[in-house]
Amino acid sequence: MKITSQPGKEFGATVEGFDHTTASAADIDLLKRSVYSEKIAVLKGQELSPRQFLELGKRLGRPETYYEPMYQHPEVEEIFVSSNVPEGGKQIGVPKTGKFWHADYQFMPDPFGLTLIYPQVIPRKNRGTYFIDMGKAYEKLPDALKEEIRGTYCRHSVRKYFKIRPHDVYRPISEVIDEVERKTPAVLQPTTFTHPMTGETVLYVSEGFTVGIEDAEGKPLDTDVLHRLFEVTGQLDESFGHGNIHLQGFEQGDLLVWDNRSLIHRARHTTTPEPTVSYRVTVHDDRRLFDGPGPS
Ligand SMILES: [Fe+2]
Repeated sequence: MKITSQPGKEFGATVEGFDHTTASAADIDLLKRSVYSEKIAVLKGQELSPRQFLELGKRLGRPETYYEPMYQHPEVEEIFVSSNVPEGGKQIGVPKTGKFWHADYQFMPDPFGLTLIYPQVIPRKNRGTYFIDMGKAYEKLPDALKEEIRGTYCRHSVRKYFKIRPHDVYRPISEVIDEVERKTPAVLQPTTFTHPMTGETVLYVSEGFTVGIEDAEGKPLDTDVLHRLFEVTGQLDESFGHGNIHLQGFEQGDLLVWDNRSLIHRARHTTTPEPTVSYRVTVHDDRRLFDGPGPS
C-alpha cells in the first residue's frame, strides 16, 4: 500500500495497492490516520461487488444503515444508492441526492465518522464532488465572528431537504412534515467541537441541515449569524470559486473515504443530466462525533 498526497491540491491523498481482504491491522490504522489528516483518501483500482464494498467498509468501522429504506441497495441494505439509472425499468435508490452543502447524518443524534463513496456510473462531464474542510474554514473566520459563536449551539434538521417517498403521494403535506419532525426531531450540537482524532476545532454548520443557532442558555440567536457563517465559509458561492471549496474528481475504480466530522460536501450540479450511479457505505469509527456529553 502506497499513500501519497494529491499533487497541487489543498488536501486529499491517493492510496495505491490497497486490498481490504489482505490489509493488516497496521495498514488499516495507517489508512484511517491518513483520512483524518488528509481528509480524503482515494483508493485506486477497486473492483468490488456490493457485498465486497460493505466488507471493505467493515474493516474501517461499524456500518450505519440509512434510516429511509428507499435509498437502500436491494441486496445489501447497508449500501445507500444514489442513481438516476433505472434497472430493469425499476428505480434503484434515489436520484439527485446531496445537491446542497451538508455533512452526512448531521441531522441525526449520532453521526458517523467516515463516509465511503464508490462511484459506479461516472458522468463524462461534471464529474466530482465539492468539499469544504470546516476545520480550516474555522481557522480562517474573523476573530469577531469566532467570539460571537463561542459557547453557542446549533440545531440541525433534515426538514429542508427531506425527499418525499413513493408512499407519500396523495398524503397531506402537513402529515408528512409532522412525521419528519416526530421521527427526526432537530438535533442540538455545539457550533464548534474538538475533533477527537486530530484535536482540530471544527465548525459544524451546513447550509443544508443547520436550521437554528442559540446561546448556552437556549435563547435563539438571530439567524443572520448562520447566514454570515455560510457566506464566509463559501457555502453560498454558487460559482464554486471560493478559496475554501475543493473539487474532488474520480475515475472508474476509485473509492473515496472521507472524514465526515471535518468535511461538508455537495454533489455537483448538472444542467444536462447524465447517467450517474454511486454506492455509499458509512461507518462509525472508535469515537463519537466529539468527546463529551451527547446532543439533546
Ligand atoms: Fe452526502
